[in-house]
Amino acid sequence: MLREGRLVGIPTETVYGLAGNAFDDKAIAGIFQVKNRPFFDPLIVHINTFEGLSQLVRSIPREAILLAEAFMPGPLTLLLPKKDVIPEILTAGSFLVAIRIPSHPMTQELLSRLSFPLAAPSANPFGYISPTTAKHVEQQLGDKIPYILDGGACKVGVESTIVGFEKGKPTVFRKGGIAIEAIEEVIGPVRVRPHSSSRPDAPGMLKSHYSPKIPIKLGNIESLLKKHHGNAIGVISFKSSFPSIPEERQVLLSRKGDFAEAAHNLFSGMRYLDGLKLDVILAELLPERDLGKAINDRLRRASAG
Ligand code: TXA
Ligand code: MG
Repeated sequence: MLREGRLVGIPTETVYGLAGNAFDDKAIAGIFQVKNRPFFDPLIVHINTFEGLSQLVRSIPREAILLAEAFMPGPLTLLLPKKDVIPEILTAGSFLVAIRIPSHPMTQELLSRLSFPLAAPSANPFGYISPTTAKHVEQQLGDKIPYILDGGACKVGVESTIVGFEKGKPTVFRKGGIAIEAIEEVIGPVRVRPHSSSRPDAPGMLKSHYSPKIPIKLGNIESLLKKHHGNAIGVISFKSSFPSIPEERQVLLSRKGDFAEAAHNLFSGMRYLDGLKLDVILAELLPERDLGKAINDRLRRASAG
């Protein structure tokens, strides 16, 4: 199907992607259409080998090579100057292209059997929670695409960390599955781009994103519970539960306080609560370190929706 220019849901270790031939303008236009995604929001290109990178980009800074050695395959995306083989529509006119090497074995094998890279944004309608199982993709895009490759639940659960180079300085454009601390261990201090709400340089930085339909309120859960007394409430907490709320309305991200486990459970938890009849979802931020940063970023933007 991919060879015919059609679109397929694919598993990655971060979230499910909506994939098409990255060299095929029509397939790429289809991705924007199916996702209802604005054409100013560029896509990520997926390849399976580091050698493949040099065929798609003009230059690779030394720090990018170090990061690639440390974290590829894995949840890292590099933003580098594109070669002409990359269609303009894919990068939304930018001279930069975002590239990553997913580690999911099924998608690794898929890529190794294709003669072209795969353009794939997360397989959700624009602005909604990213899918972490094939079922999630089916529920939202099932009637619009011919096939979903089921690779089980995504291990990491949040999107890749995007690193680019602004005036040569390594810069994180989106917090994600590789912690900033881990990146800094390899290349030293990096800049982190704040969000923007209009004309974003990386639209993954839009202030409101990843939003469930039910409003999310962030803060101290005990005080929020008092404030929202009388409402049908759902709770997303890091490691403690709340006896006044029925268990089936609570998503405990990680009882043992593990950031990776919390990231793995975040989107499926948000989606689960969004499927209940609730007035409001109350959530608390995690400690602002390690993957807690990426998780908090998603929670903040979900609550801004
Ligand atoms: O983990 C992931 O990265 C997942 C899986 C499927 O690989 N993909 C993903 O794609 O999260 P998507 O489309 O939801 O987010 C891609 C983001 C864009 O919103 C934008 O912020 C950034 O990547 N991006 C892509 N190309 C860019 C470019 N040329 N310049 C700036 N930002 C870019
Ligand atoms: Mg997305």
